[in-house]
Amino acid sequence: MEIQKLFFFFASVFCVKVEGEVGTHHFVSQALNWTDAQTHCRRYYTDLFSVNDQKDTEKIVKAAAGQKSLNWNTVWIGLYRDPTNATRWKWSGGGYVTYTNWDKGQPNNVANTQNTVNTNSNGRWNDAHGYLAWPFFCIKISVMNYEKKTWEEALEHCREEHSDLISIASETDRLLAQTEMQRNNLTEHVWIGLRFLADQWLWVDGETMVYKAWPQGGDEDHQCPTWRRCGALTVEGLWGNYNCEEKRYFFCK
Ligand SMILES: *[C@@H]1O[C@H](CO)[C@@H](O)[C@H](O)[C@H]1NC(C)=O
Ligand SMILES: *[C@@H]1O[C@H](CO)[C@@H](O)[C@H](O)[C@H]1NC(C)=O
Ligand SMILES: *[C@@H]1O[C@H](CO)[C@@H](O)[C@H](O)[C@H]1NC(C)=O
Repeated sequence: MEIQKLFFFFASVFCVKVEGEVGTHHFVSQALNWTDAQTHCRRYYTDLFSVNDQKDTEKIVKAAAGQKSLNWNTVWIGLYRDPTNATRWKWSGGGYVTYTNWDKGQPNNVANTQNTVNTNSNGRWNDAHGYLAWPFFCIKISVMNYEKKTWEEALEHCREEHSDLISIASETDRLLAQTEMQRNNLTEHVWIGLRFLADQWLWVDGETMVYKAWPQGGDEDHQCPTWRRCGALTVEGLWGNYNCEEKRYFFCK
């Protein structure tokens, strides 16, 4: 009993949350090797943390600065070397790197066995041996699957919780969200923060639309939708446009 209390005390003290576009990033202060860190994130969150762009880097640097008491200098991120191509890097959640932020002289692949990546508190990446134990960041994507809501009701619900419907800024984000749907055994499309307004598709949180995942060919209704002006992540893991009045589960950040 006492030990449990102590654990909860530490767990709450060390809990650092940072909001991203697709979900929240959680700092885990326990030092584990890369594969154990990955297992931990997949069990309690969605996956090891991935970095889409400079904005994500800045959030991590800020979180590090706010945690001086923990004195963390190095943490694992979800990046690893493609086993089939040593010059290519993949995210634990799926997808290849697009943005990179290597430290000077990195990756240097010491002994040809540095196959995983950590980041310093300055946000710069370094390839490192996966057996080393470091604290790490996990990403958690939250699917609201208690009550189905129209797109507007879903948005309102997220905003009441001081959050927003998610935006999907990369292939990795898309795959992570799909993983979360599968984990919850969802067999219907789920609302995301995608909305057709003023003749274009926008993210309601103001995120710029760079990455797109509309299905190729077939139904091109999304290009000029008359009724179906709200976006969902489909069971197939792509975007689909639907009538905003339909009731669906939804993703909040
Ligand atoms: C390995 O990956 C690099 C970087 O993505 C690419 O340029 C190269 O063609 C790949 N090599 C093979 C053999 O696929
Ligand atoms: C990580 O640690 C576990 C034990 O907790 C061990 O079984 C595993 O082999 C280690 N992985 C690496 C890559 O060292
Ligand atoms: C999803 O289905 C699997 C297999 O039927 C089950 O073990 C698991 O508990 C389910 N998960 C949820 C969140 O319902």
